[in-house]
Amino acid sequence: MQQRTSVAICGAQGYSGQALTKLVLQHPHLQLAGVFSRRDAAEIYRLLPQLAEHHIPIWPMKEFHDRLATIDVLLLATPAATSMELATAGAEHVTHVIDLSGAFRLPPDSFAKWYGIPHSAPELLDQAIYGLLPWWQTHASNSHKTRLIANPGCYATCSLMALLPLIKQNILQTERIIIDAKSGVSGAGRAAKESLLFCEVADNFFPYKIGQHQHTPEIQHTLEQYTGQSVQLTLTTHLLPIVRGISLICYAQAQSRFNNDSAIEEAVEQAYRQAYQDYPLVTFSRLNQAQPQQHLLAVNQVAHTPNTHIVYYVQQGQLIIAASLDNLLKGAASQAIENINALYTWPLTTGLWPQGEYV
Ligand SMILES: NC(=O)c1ccc[n+]([C@@H]2O[C@H](COP(=O)([O-])OP(=O)(O)OC[C@H]3O[C@@H](n4cnc5c(N)ncnc54)[C@H](OP(=O)(O)O)[C@@H]3O)[C@@H](O)[C@H]2O)c1
Repeated sequence: MQQRTSVAICGAQGYSGQALTKLVLQHPHLQLAGVFSRRDAAEIYRLLPQLAEHHIPIWPMKEFHDRLATIDVLLLATPAATSMELATAGAEHVTHVIDLSGAFRLPPDSFAKWYGIPHSAPELLDQAIYGLLPWWQTHASNSHKTRLIANPGCYATCSLMALLPLIKQNILQTERIIIDAKSGVSGAGRAAKESLLFCEVADNFFPYKIGQHQHTPEIQHTLEQYTGQSVQLTLTTHLLPIVRGISLICYAQAQSRFNNDSAIEEAVEQAYRQAYQDYPLVTFSRLNQAQPQQHLLAVNQVAHTPNTHIVYYVQQGQLIIAASLDNLLKGAASQAIENINALYTWPLTTGLWPQGEYV
């Protein structure tokens, strides 16, 4: 019998860490060796009884270095400042580190500006792969040598899945892209904050971090890296009174070479087909004005799944693209599992689709 790849998680009691834990436990080739936490084991077992059922040990943080010797993959579902510290230690001992935070997604100067702290591991940042799938896989002939994967941000993943195919095919003008985005409250994490209390969020809706969201440079940097084009964009994020899911609309002008809207639609359809034909975790469609596709537009249709939904519409040369995903799955945990699958050259959907039990 094939030996399972051993995995350790840090941050399992957070929202994305909980989703990650459940996915690792159901993956056919992974063995969850243990969970690092600064909390009591009893507290973690109460929160995640699956860990007790599977006899998974909870290791205190002081054992972090010693325990890593037997681990193949370290998953970090921790804030960026913690991830920088733990990834540095982890990369010395384990084969692969996958970090869900923003610590390794931006060049050091940009990281310091948008995250408000200096980067403490710039050497490691140089080695990091930005783990947007299915995109990075095509560049990775040496995936087994990849030490560190920066798992993309949730808004960034949703925006990039919608925009990358079209900018790559030179369909969009890239100097004035607008992304109007909304997320459920789990996107802000589990730590207690007054602004996230039920009475503040329920029956309410508001924009936040206007002009200051840290995924703005992440989307811009990635689009430029993958397409070689200069990109200017505005991202505005809002908080929805729901638990999970992201729904966003991208507005962009098509290139002037197209004669009419039908020609743009045809090019868009082809670009998405080419990008996602071998990738079953994206569903895209042109908007049917007579019968709008609620199953692709409503955020509750994509929540609790590893999928991304895209619906596009062209109006007088302007593209309107609606995209949605689950911030805790494709925006975090299931994309991290896809990244492990890519590293070990297993099918990307292993443990996720269609047999996966979603979390
Ligand atoms: N939520 C999302 O939708 C989402 C999506 C994509 C990426 N991310 C990123 O994923 C990471 C985790 O996000 P989250 O929303 O799951 O956060 P969260 O719910 O606040 O959980 C954070 C976890 O990190 C642990 N932690 C914090 N500082 C630590 C330290 N010094 N040592 C050990 N453990 C520490 C916390 O442990 P305690 O419980 O002991 O505090 C907690 O388990 C963040 O970097 C976030 O930006 C989140």
